[in-house]
Formats: sequence, structure tokens, C-alpha cells
Amino acid sequence: MEAILEQYKQVTEAQVKVWFKAAAVEAFPKNAGACIKYRDKQIAVFNFARKNKWYACQNLCPHKMEMVLARGLTGAEGDIPKVACPLHKRTFSLETGENLNADLPPIATYPVKIQDGFVYVGFAE
Ligand code: FES
Repeated sequence: MEAILEQYKQVTEAQVKVWFKAAAVEAFPKNAGACIKYRDKQIAVFNFARKNKWYACQNLCPHKMEMVLARGLTGAEGDIPKVACPLHKRTFSLETGENLNADLPPIATYPVKIQDGFVYVGFAE
């Protein structure tokens, strides 16, 4: 279990070495999430269409180690964009990965950029 979690490490924009071309913008649902695969990682990508913002995080919920966050409900806590796990509603900041309503470890988040109609997710390796 721990080994799976270790695959997911927070990546800041400054740490990006690879911009992975995930798919065309239209392939992603609006105001919801979708799952992409990069190497052996499952990454949840969220299109906050109302705010014209995109976020990415590990698909793995650290509560019961389920690959489900892409199916979570998105929203905001104040100014913080967040996702709620569809299983037991633990919520996480999509900016810092912090667990907002329990004491779970943070999830890894990844930078997203849109270029020429495509969605790119940034990885450090
Ligand atoms: S598995 Fe995500 S909150 Fe329980």
C-alpha cells in the first residue's frame, strides 16, 4: 500500500521536467474530473470551466487507497478549489493537496497547462 502512495509526489511548476500531453481540451468534462494515465500513475484532471482553471492530482484517495478522486465532486472552500472523494467525502485542496476535513496525508497535485487546445500535466520525471 505504502509503495503505491510513494509514486505520487507533489510537483510544483518549477520542478516540471516533462509536460505530458494528456488529451484535447474537449475530451475533458466541464466542472468535473477525468482520469489519465502517465507511466504507472493514475492522475485526476479537473476542468473548473466556470473559473477557466485546471487542476491535477493523484487519483488515489489516501483514506482507503481507492483510485477514485477523478470521480469526486468539485467545489471550493472559500478561495480554495477542492475535490471530495466520492466514497466517504474526505476533501482535498487542489492547490496544496491538503486534506481539509480530516487528518489524512496530503495528496500530490500537479501543474496543468493548456496549449493549442491540448491539456498538459507537469511531472518531475
Ligand atoms: S476512500 Fe476516499 S474518503 Fe474514503
